[in-house]
Parts: sequence; structure tokens; C-alpha cells
Amino acid sequence: MAVRIVLVTGKGGVGKTTVAAATALASADAGHRTLVSSTDPAHSLADAFDVELADDPTEIAPGLFGQQIDTQRQLDRYWGTIRDQLMNVLDWGGVSGLEAEEFLVFPGMDELFALLEVNRHARSGAYDAIVVDCAPTAETLRLLSLPEVLSWYFERILPTERRILRAARPLLTRVTDLPVPEEGVFDAATTVFSGIEQVKELLADPEVTSARLVVNPEKMVIDEARRTYTYLSLFGYGVDGVVVNRVLPEQVSDPYFSRWRTIQKSHLDTVDAAFADVPRLRLRLFDEEMVGVGRLRTMAEELYGDADPVLDFRARNPFRVEDRDGEVVLEMAVPFADKGDLDVYRHGNELFIQVGPYRRSFLLPDSLHRRQVAGAKLADGVLSIRFGEVT
Ligand SMILES: Nc1ncnc2c1ncn2[C@@H]1O[C@H](COP(=O)(O)OP(=O)(O)OP(=O)(O)O)[C@@H](O)[C@H]1O
Ligand SMILES: [Mg+2]
Repeated sequence: MAVRIVLVTGKGGVGKTTVAAATALASADAGHRTLVSSTDPAHSLADAFDVELADDPTEIAPGLFGQQIDTQRQLDRYWGTIRDQLMNVLDWGGVSGLEAEEFLVFPGMDELFALLEVNRHARSGAYDAIVVDCAPTAETLRLLSLPEVLSWYFERILPTERRILRAARPLLTRVTDLPVPEEGVFDAATTVFSGIEQVKELLADPEVTSARLVVNPEKMVIDEARRTYTYLSLFGYGVDGVVVNRVLPEQVSDPYFSRWRTIQKSHLDTVDAAFADVPRLRLRLFDEEMVGVGRLRTMAEELYGDADPVLDFRARNPFRVEDRDGEVVLEMAVPFADKGDLDVYRHGNELFIQVGPYRRSFLLPDSLHRRQVAGAKLADGVLSIRFGEVT
């Protein structure tokens, strides 16, 4: 079996960590060698299992390993050499100490290095399934859009810089004392770059990676999940399930909760309508905190029953490219997007699609270079872009 990666995400406090833990446990119980990784710097995975976890995977139950990724360690592993060189340059320029340190971090960097770690385990062959306990939605989206943004950057900047420096090194060392990077720095950068490329490849493959959204039957939580669904699709991530957590169970008869039940009922209907094309799983509000392997297993059984928590959940690919009567049509699911939120434009052989605050660039395949965009339309949550006849 090829590795599967399930990203568990949702708004803060909805039960992501608990659902990720229960899902991973169910996956191991179904016979898959499973790793559950927390990329949320505010780790609580160990608390959910009530065990100690570290940066290296630790066995929690038969076939189940857990890790809380230490981003500092990952940063040193991947970024150390590059950082040292940049420090030298900054020092030469009169910037040092804390100030320099601050120059050397970019937003989302921790999360990016956490993803490189997930990539490493995914390719190790040691696991059939990796369940990722993500940070709350906003950070996760930033994280998932990073490989896209960074590889765009690296593809354009890195090769040129390396060429220029190769040519300039003899000159530079003669006329200035500017510390010129050794080849080792470029090798380190290349390692990071190819790591990012690999992450992108894994995450962009809907056969490998899918997102599972956790919501509560509450208006703001559901609204955010819908936006998340849109943005995930934009970056090519399929959603393979929605877990509706903390549903008031039928047997609660206290009149105090009867109004809550009515409110929840209407939100459950909203979820059913909004995510009609995705499996929805309901999970009751338990009468205790769901901590420890025993309780998580109870939760997992109620959540998945006899279903395989990994193999029985597949996301549809949000993209499709089709030939239609001499035209090529690129179709992309952007559920819940408004026409007003959406902007599509082309620059050279790149196509840009912007939805709300997120922008994605697509490098068009050669076959589309010589075609003009003939039209774009948004209907039923699907954006279709038509490329006309070859000119
Ligand atoms: N269905 C449930 N019934 C009872 N308790 C639950 C349920 N789901 C989650 N909990 C409890 O709610 C608390 C918060 O859950 P959890 O830590 O999984 O949320 P989270 O979405 O990961 O939060 P954060 O955004 O802070 O990472 C935990 O104590 C957990 O045991
Ligand atoms: Mg959590």
C-alpha cells in the first residue's frame, strides 16, 4: 500500500487533536503501520494519549507511533548551514546578535520544517498511514500554501543567484571582504528546495493526501470550515470527510439543553447541505474528557464503526483537465466561492487564481502555452477555464 497522509484540521478547540488521535488509533487497529504527528507548536497530542512524546516517533500502542515535531530541531537540521552563512553576511554588514536572528526567520518557517519532517517519514517506507494533527485552520492554510509560495520563489531566485555568485566569487573575494558563500550553503539550500518540492508532490497528490475537517455544530465554526474547504481546494487538497464533533446525544433530556438541541439540529442540517458531497461523521459530546488510549478507542469505534479510517476515505481531486471539441478546459472545485472573491489572470505561461486572500499560481503545461484563455466561468462551485484553439 502506498502511504496515505490525513491532515486533521479545523477551528481552534473543536477537537482536532482528539479526533487525530482517535483516527490514528483506529488506523493502527485496522492493521496499518501508523504515525501520528503533531505540527501544532502548541503540542497537546501527548496529553490526548496521556503518554510522553518527543521529536522522534515513540510507540504508543501496537502499530501506532506518535511524535510532536520539535520545530527548532528541524530548523537546525535543515536551515543551520544556510543560517550560518546569512549570519556572516549580516555581521559583515554590521547587523548582529538578536537583530540578525530576526532577519533569518520568515513567517511560516516553523511549519514548513515540520512538513519536511512529515515528508521524510512518508518516504521512509516505515508507515502506511500518517495522521497529522494540525494547528488551527489559519496557520494550517498558511502552512499548506507555503510549499507553493516558496518553490515559486526558489525556482526564480536560487538558480540565478548561484550562477551570479559562481562568476563573481573570484572578483568578490579580491575586492571586498564580503563573506562569499561556500558551495555547501547552496547544497543546503538545494536540499531544502528539493524537500519542498517533495512535500508539494506528496501533498498535491489526492491519492496520498487528504484533509479531514473537524467542526462543532456552531455557526462560526461551520462558516470557517466552508472557507477552509474553498482555500484547500484552491491549493489542490481534497477534503475526504467532515467530523461533526460534540453533538448532544439523544438521551440528554434535561430541558436546559432542549434549546441547544434545536440550535444544533439546524446547524447539523447546514453541515449536511454544505458538505453534501463529502462523508459526514457525527460524534457525540461524551460525558467525560476523552483522554487516554482506552477512551480514544471508544471514540474511534463510535466514529468509524467497521469502516477503515484510512482506506475508506478518499478525496476527489479538485482539478480536472479535459479536451472538449478542440478546446482544453481546466476545471477546479472552489466550493462556496463568490464571483466577487475570485480573480483569474494569466501572465506569460503562468495562470494565477486568487480566491479571497489566497493566490495560487499554476505553471501551464507546454500544451497550453500557445492557447489563449477563451473564457472562465463559475457555476455550482466549479471554476472552468477554457483555453481556445492553438493559434
Ligand atoms: N466529543 C467530545 N466529548 C467530550 N470531550 C471532548 C470531545 N471532543 C474533544 N473533547 C475534549 O475537548 C478538549 C479539547 O479538544 P482538543 O484538544 O482535541 O481540541 P483541538 O481542536 O485540538 O484544540 P486546539 O485548537 O487548542 O489544538 C479536550 O479536553 C478533549 O478531551
Ligand atoms: Mg490541538
